[in-house]
Amino acid sequence: MATREFTDAIMLLKNDHREVEDLFTKFEKAGDSGRKWQIAQQICNELKIHSLLEEEIFYPATKDVVEEDLYKEAHVEHDGASVLINDIMESGGEGEFFEAKVKVLQEQIEHHVKEEEQPKEGYFAQVRDSDVDVVSMLDQMIARKEELKAQAEAGGLPPAELTAVDADAS
Ligand SMILES: [Fe+2]
Ligand SMILES: [Fe+2]
Repeated sequence: MATREFTDAIMLLKNDHREVEDLFTKFEKAGDSGRKWQIAQQICNELKIHSLLEEEIFYPATKDVVEEDLYKEAHVEHDGASVLINDIMESGGEGEFFEAKVKVLQEQIEHHVKEEEQPKEGYFAQVRDSDVDVVSMLDQMIARKEELKAQAEAGGLPPAELTAVDADAS
C-alpha cells in the first residue's frame, strides 16, 4: 500500500497537500468542461477525506500542544472550504460560477496549507516540537483513510460537515 511509505502522520498529511495541489494544477490545465468536472470531484473527495483525518484524529490529539488561535482558525478554515466543497459537488459542474468556486477553493486551501506547514510557527512545526506521538498516529490515520476511500468509491462521501461555524450558530 502506497501510504506505508510514510514514517509518521504529518508526512501523510503533507503528501495529501501535494496531491491536492497537483489536482488544482490539472484542473487549471484541463481543456473541456467534462474533464474539469471530473477533476473538481476528485479535489472535493480528496479534501473531504483529508479534512476528516485532521478533524477526527490529528486536531483532537494535538489541541493542547499548539497555539489556541491556530487550532481554532484551522477549524474555521476547514468550514470555509467545506461550504465551497459542498456547493461544488451539488453544482454538477454546471453554472456560471463553477470555475470561480474551484479557484477560490484553491486559494483558501493554499492559505490553510501554509498555516499548517509554515516552518517554526506552523501547526505541524508546533506538533513536531511537542511530545505527541505522530509515529503511532500513522496507523490509525491509514486505517481511517482506507475506510473513507472505500466509502467514496462505493457511492460517495456525505457532504462535509461544519465543525466550528455551526457550533457557534446553535
Ligand atoms: Fe491539512
Ligand atoms: Fe487542515
